[in-house]
Amino acid sequence: MITKYCFGTPFETEAVAMKLNSTTVTSSDLTKEDSKDVFSFPISIKSDHNFFLEYDMAKDDIVYGLGEANRGINKRGYQYISYCTDDPNHTENKFSLYGAHNFIIIDGDQCFGLFFDYPGKLTFDIGYSSYSKLRVVAEEANLYLYVISGASSYDIIKQFREMIGESYLPPLWAFGYQQSRWGYKTASDIRTVADEYQKHGIGLDAIYMDIDYMEQYKDFTVDEEKFPNFTEFVAEMKNRNIHLVPIIDAGVKIEDGYSVYEEGVANNYFCKREDGTDFIAGVWPGDTHFPDFFKKDAREWFGNKYQTLLEKGIDGFWNDMNEPAIFYSKEGLDEAYEEVKKMENKELYLSNIFHLKYLMDSLQNKEDDHKRFYHDVEGKKVRHDKVHNLYGYYMTRAAGEAFHNLNESKRILLFSRSSYIGMHRYGGIWTGDNHSWWSHLLLNIKMMPSLNMCGFLYSGADLGGFGGDVTRDLMLRWLAFGIFTPLMRNHSAIGTRNQECYEFESAEEFKHLIGIRYRLIPYLYSEFVKAVKKNDMLFRPLAFDYPNDPLSRHIEDQLMLGEGLMIAPVYTQNATGRYIYLPEDMLYLKFTKDSDFSMEVLTKGHHYIEVDLSEVPLFVKQNHILPLAKEAENTATLDRKNFTILCYLTKEASYEFYEDDGITLPANGTTNILTIDCPNAAQIVNSEFQFA
Ligand code: GLC
Repeated sequence: MITKYCFGTPFETEAVAMKLNSTTVTSSDLTKEDSKDVFSFPISIKSDHNFFLEYDMAKDDIVYGLGEANRGINKRGYQYISYCTDDPNHTENKFSLYGAHNFIIIDGDQCFGLFFDYPGKLTFDIGYSSYSKLRVVAEEANLYLYVISGASSYDIIKQFREMIGESYLPPLWAFGYQQSRWGYKTASDIRTVADEYQKHGIGLDAIYMDIDYMEQYKDFTVDEEKFPNFTEFVAEMKNRNIHLVPIIDAGVKIEDGYSVYEEGVANNYFCKREDGTDFIAGVWPGDTHFPDFFKKDAREWFGNKYQTLLEKGIDGFWNDMNEPAIFYSKEGLDEAYEEVKKMENKELYLSNIFHLKYLMDSLQNKEDDHKRFYHDVEGKKVRHDKVHNLYGYYMTRAAGEAFHNLNESKRILLFSRSSYIGMHRYGGIWTGDNHSWWSHLLLNIKMMPSLNMCGFLYSGADLGGFGGDVTRDLMLRWLAFGIFTPLMRNHSAIGTRNQECYEFESAEEFKHLIGIRYRLIPYLYSEFVKAVKKNDMLFRPLAFDYPNDPLSRHIEDQLMLGEGLMIAPVYTQNATGRYIYLPEDMLYLKFTKDSDFSMEVLTKGHHYIEVDLSEVPLFVKQNHILPLAKEAENTATLDRKNFTILCYLTKEASYEFYEDDGITLPANGTTNILTIDCPNAAQIVNSEFQFA
């Protein structure tokens, strides 16, 4: 059951798709002796000029949720600040990442979900200041609070997902392996990547075009010198079954003669300063204006611009720098210069040197800058910081709405760096600039279920890590996890070591891993579409499938994947394997380099499994069926009719296999029910199967 409470005058974010009547909370409600009478749960709330919620957590309570956030699946013991932030160095001491997903579930004797629909800065202190206290604080007491009760966390999540609306569905090719790098500058650079992958027989469905494809980083332009005959180039790649995916940045370069800039200025489509002039922020192109995605006409205008690339044959995009990221503002620079001037004739104490350094560093993503520009929300001026977390959402919504209007029956790949709940209906996300660190591989693993809780199904991290130099073993281990994430993209920063699969010794080990991805795509895709339609999760904590198993409750480095699988990635350097826990007897499938795969039944309990680099362990729950395809070099040539059926059978088993053409909307494909009868004795099934 969901109850919607209204505090003050909330901003209508459009995070929630379902129409629900709200109960206005009065000050007398908040002074009632027993807050359970108001909220059904003993949460206490104070809301005068700011909003403060408190709940006493029991010792064993787990807190799930928060989507793209730091640390573990259980969010307890730390503080998280929902404030979309461009932080490429997000070590474990950071409070904010690129997304703001304000949904949590308290899982204990009392089990309930809370969604704070509030687009400004929101702090979740989950046992950080005091281990037993959950405290949620907003700067203003204007928000909707949704309280969701249900039989379990899993049930609460499904209700929440139904409330926020169906998740975005990408085309099938977006489940293929994708290669990216900030540094491919010309068509010939991209052709080399395609050639090398195909020469090595390594699967590939897409290559990304980072900012260098544009003319001086101007959105919706293509540099003709670097990409002559772009339309033909896109077609050439498509003939090779490779899709090109260009980046679109939020900031529009200020340059006379550049039509996007001129139209934006002429029609008041850009964010304004308080005095009504267009706000200037420094991003990749230098000085830019930010489109005011809060204005419907500006959204339509910007969204329709994607057509210039769609017309050239492009069918996928990634939206970036949309927190929005700001390298400097004019005002910030002026202030810093002023300070520097004051220091000019002072003696250079060490503290002054540090202050100088601080002044320069703090120019970037300065929160003060968020108070320097405004959005026009149906004629009302709203200061950016108060709705900051919606900017990336509305940029992606602009694109998603335009795609729908241009051709409602075609799926376009779309994902964003910054996001808020609600954006999951328009696109997926990648988790921003991570590093080639083992800790970021682990963070990637732990984040997947949380993202799914908040509706973000099509998601993934920069495999191999964006910043820093990846080592071969980290790349292999990360890919061995990445073969399970819907977005499987290897991406890295300019200046870092090349990390395309063919750049490493023994490329065949990489080919082997990516081959496994293609074998799994029919299952992953079938599970993905079902999860979209049923408001379900693709990645789940073990506790959701084994609620009565006390050990499962605390496992964070193994995940359930789709209805019948469990994964247990290796995420430490020099490990030759890892310990795993099985909540029941399972079929242990190991994809090995030399043979196809090995199979054995492992019993409930603890085990140590040997996992060599480029091997992949996978567990199939008993009486669940894994349909495994043959290897392919892309999704276009993937055989989705003939499968090897794997199963550990103790009674009958069935699998609901969904398939469609992978491109049409709505997704009304066919569902085949695959059944295997009850055996005389427990057995492993390994048989060939052909769908009609
Ligand atoms: C940002 C993005 C990164 C991209 C870079 C250059 O850092 O997060 O993915 O490569 O900008 O466009």
